[in-house]
Amino acid sequence: MENNIILTGDRPTGKLHIGHYVGSLKKRVEMQNTGKYTPYIMIADQQALTDNARDPEKIKNSLIQVALDYLAVGLDPKKSTIFVQSQIPALAELNLYYLNLVTVSRLERNPTVKAEIQQKNFERSIPAGFFTYPVSQTADITAFKAKYVPVGDDQEPMLEQAREIVRSFNSIYGEVLVEPEGVFPKKGSGRLPGLDGNAKMSKSLGNCIYLSDDADTLKKKVMSMYTDPNHIHVEDPGQVEGNMVFAYLDIFDSDKEHVADLKERYQDGGLGDVKIKRYLNEVLEAELGPIRKRRAEFEKDIPAVYQMLKDGSDKANEVANQTLEEVRAAIGVNYFDILK
Ligand code: TRP
Repeated sequence: MENNIILTGDRPTGKLHIGHYVGSLKKRVEMQNTGKYTPYIMIADQQALTDNARDPEKIKNSLIQVALDYLAVGLDPKKSTIFVQSQIPALAELNLYYLNLVTVSRLERNPTVKAEIQQKNFERSIPAGFFTYPVSQTADITAFKAKYVPVGDDQEPMLEQAREIVRSFNSIYGEVLVEPEGVFPKKGSGRLPGLDGNAKMSKSLGNCIYLSDDADTLKKKVMSMYTDPNHIHVEDPGQVEGNMVFAYLDIFDSDKEHVADLKERYQDGGLGDVKIKRYLNEVLEAELGPIRKRRAEFEKDIPAVYQMLKDGSDKANEVANQTLEEVRAAIGVNYFDILK
């Protein structure tokens, strides 16, 4: 039987933004809707705690926001198992066995973790749980025997490490685990820059459009976007490179011919920023309006959203416990099986 299992997830540290949407959520929904896959979507609250241990309230509040964002973009609990990491005890035990299969120096070489350590100014006070989160992520993936992991480009080192752990495990204890592969966004459509022109849209930089932003907020944000600081008069020729309005149009507007035409007119001079921003706002509203509407519907019944997460977690537990049993048997820590 072909393995079409997908696992992916997000840290609940805030509401999801349109960078998450183009970088990963959209792809997940597409894959889900082909009907060819068995998707597991995890809210990684334990991973979020690795660098937020002193702010559990933030994680708790964000959990429901992320669940709402998932439902809003079209993840469907009938087609995808949506669950919560902390409710799956098998993941923690798998993590414990896998930790013995990596070295500290290998963990130190993970470029994404390295960058995060710098960005968060951890210096020498790195929480050990944070430092080892790629191992816990391997537990998340392998517990479901997932083959495909749709994630942003920054997660490639995690998959590399996951494959190494899987290979070590399988060669020492026998073939139990599945080697996962990443599914990355198409080149050029991957990373959405921030409203301010920063290469990354990120909550900490305050340059995001959230999936939950209302129409007015969206419009205000679009009108404040970074364009070409030297394009002062409408008739001046404008720069398209580094201009966020065009960066966003390239990603969100399917009418490529129209975008090419706008770029030409902008570069020639005579096309004003307000005009192109109004147009971008229309394009974004067409995509985000329906998402916002669905979110508002789900918001009316929050207990139902928790129930959905619980049902998903119950299902996820069955699968993860089965894998854990196989792992225990492979390692040989299933002593009492002889009593069965
Ligand atoms: N690291 C991912 C993020 O930063 C979240 C995550 C946790 C994840 N476990 C995972 C992603 C397993 C894919 C597979 O958002």
